[in-house]
Amino acid sequence: MTKIALVTGANKGIGFETAKQLAQHNIKVLLGARNETEGKKAEAVLQGLSLDVTYIKLDISDSADIENVKNYIEGEYGALDILVNNAAVFLDSAWFGNNTETVTLQTLRDTFDINYFGTVELTQALLPAIKKSEAGRIVNISSVSGSFGVHLNEAHWLYALKPYAYSASKTALNQFTVFLAHALRETKIKVNVANPGWVKTSIGSDQAPLTPEDGAKTGVALALLDNNGPTGTFSESGEVLPW
Ligand SMILES: NC(=O)c1ccc[n+]([C@@H]2O[C@H](COP(=O)([O-])OP(=O)(O)OC[C@H]3O[C@@H](n4cnc5c(N)ncnc54)[C@H](OP(=O)(O)O)[C@@H]3O)[C@@H](O)[C@H]2O)c1
Repeated sequence: MTKIALVTGANKGIGFETAKQLAQHNIKVLLGARNETEGKKAEAVLQGLSLDVTYIKLDISDSADIENVKNYIEGEYGALDILVNNAAVFLDSAWFGNNTETVTLQTLRDTFDINYFGTVELTQALLPAIKKSEAGRIVNISSVSGSFGVHLNEAHWLYALKPYAYSASKTALNQFTVFLAHALRETKIKVNVANPGWVKTSIGSDQAPLTPEDGAKTGVALALLDNNGPTGTFSESGEVLPW
């Protein structure tokens, strides 16, 4: 039976490439995007490659969109096999430096609304459908910016880069992953975190060494894990990362 996947923020960047690579594995992919024009453009490009994708309007900070997507998936497919929580924003003023003393509560709230609360709300709403899958997979696209291990390690290249709102939202997402994997440990569902690497996108900037195609690979591999695969892990290209 054809597997069904939902990728959030699938209109561009790593999300678009993740959707493309999953569809190339003969998976039916729902392209979640908050902007209809951009979502339909992505749909047209991938359908032009004969891939089985369908755009679905999804602003993950909008509860009504989440409810519609949940109802659509349950009504149309019954079960959801793969959820890739990719959508996120970077709202800090800069990547470099440490803005912890000055970042506004508004920036923190706006960042958490999408990167954390929206992701949690969507995942909880879709869990009943994921539980109906033979082998549900939830992949949270996080970042080494959310790693305590990295931020405490002076030798790490990211040590000097401490944008607080973005990083804290990813730390919270990492904890959600660990706790959800624990809550679902007696099921077949696997919940893991992917770090894409430093990727050339709106969030990663033009300076990044990796292409979105490369950046999608870790998340896709975790989405395609077989039943012996791990749960509750944080990795990039198969290498385990510190929480
Ligand atoms: N690039 C990197 O170096 C890097 C490194 C580590 C982790 N990551 C993570 O990788 C993921 C993808 O980011 P990217 O680098 O591909 O950046 P990107 O090109 O800016 O893509 C972000 C995507 O998220 C979508 N989005 C933002 N807010 C949304 C919302 N409320 N509802 C639905 N979609 C929303 C954006 O939609 P719009 O087009 O409408 O804004 C866009 O499709 C993120 O989780 C990011 O934190 C990236």
